Amino acid sequence: MKFWAKKNISLIVSGGIAAYRACDLIRTLRREGADVAVLATKSALEFITELSLQALSGARVNSDLFTPIQADGMDHIHQTKNSDLLIIAPATANIIAKMAMGLADDLATTTILAYSGPILVAPAMNSRMWLNSATQRNVAQLKKDGVQFIDPQSGSLACGEEGEGRLAPIAHIVDAAQALLTPKILKGHRLLITAGPTHEALDPVRFISNHSTGKMGWSICRAALNAGAEVVLVYGPVNLEPPLGAELHPVTSAQEMYDQSMTAWDKGCTGAILTAAVGDYRPLTQQTDKIKKSQDNQQLTMELTVNPDILATIAAKKDGRVVVGFAAETGHAIERGREKMARKNCDLLVINDLLEADSGFGTDTNRVTILHNSGKEETWPLLSKDMVAQKLMQNIATLLNTVKKNG
Ligand code: CTP
Repeated sequence: MKFWAKKNISLIVSGGIAAYRACDLIRTLRREGADVAVLATKSALEFITELSLQALSGARVNSDLFTPIQADGMDHIHQTKNSDLLIIAPATANIIAKMAMGLADDLATTTILAYSGPILVAPAMNSRMWLNSATQRNVAQLKKDGVQFIDPQSGSLACGEEGEGRLAPIAHIVDAAQALLTPKILKGHRLLITAGPTHEALDPVRFISNHSTGKMGWSICRAALNAGAEVVLVYGPVNLEPPLGAELHPVTSAQEMYDQSMTAWDKGCTGAILTAAVGDYRPLTQQTDKIKKSQDNQQLTMELTVNPDILATIAAKKDGRVVVGFAAETGHAIERGREKMARKNCDLLVINDLLEADSGFGTDTNRVTILHNSGKEETWPLLSKDMVAQKLMQNIATLLNTVKKNG
């Protein structure tokens, strides 16, 4: 089951040039399985048509308090009646100011005032309007009132200026919305997460590595943050934008990943989820000059030395904390996983078989088997990596709470 299936979202589009990006937000949320009820301000409809919003959301879009589409005329009450979340994107300085004051002089603002559930605001405006002390004062007031913001980004603005004020990327708005809707089952926990590959340098231009892209680790990191955990993310070279809200420690080699991870582990983490594909070996000597191809030598032999095992070292210093490992195998996955779990002393091992379709490096899906230290084993169907991560958080929360109770 997808996270967004059966979620009811109300979206208010207010009048700025970024209104057209609401179309992408609606499409993304609906593609994920959410129902999206859209309301536009009159100014929004100067930038984007009602028909576009209606076609994309699959429902009628109202903008006028006094031209209701509901039989009883109470559109501002019905709009959000069954909503799990109200998103205002893009939010102009004007609508933010009205919200902060509790004004209700049109359909959008009466709807906001009549809604008692969680609200996410994604502002977009000229940078001077955003940084104006009146806007900042209004934002601070709304944050104090419990309204969540996904702050605008810096960059080139529609007005031709550079600065802070661009609507946050749609993926970030969706992530923030998901975070708001996720129960905070990991609140109070600080988790170390390793992700991505490592690069073991041979010389200044070459390295030994593997096919890890970091996608599983990123899904785990987002799910942990959404569940309310603090996250220390130690990650090797990947081509992904770092998740918002994590303490970031980019590294290159296994030794660096080990050093950063041990420092984090010794500084109050309550659990570790080690998804990284750590290089098991590194060249014994790293050449300072580029290794040259010799005409005489048809073969090149290189001596490798073993890298420290982060998971085994952390698990040896567990002291009642929870340690989760990952294992990517090529055949005999369960037997090898059982042996690995015992050898590394982890509480949970997530195994996937690289020989199976749609699982492993670079894919967006994974078919995993979870080994528990209690001896329980469960195989999950093919799921998105995000869904695997969310389900895993429930297992980790149970383990963390059991350890806490017994500790
Ligand atoms: N791991 C680690 N440090 C290492 C090697 C592995 O922390 N130096 C962690 C991985 O992040 C993963 C788990 O150990 O959570 C299993 O990794 P894997 O490479 O499958 O384990 P290995 O002991 O290297 O076994 P194999 O011989 O199968 O490579």
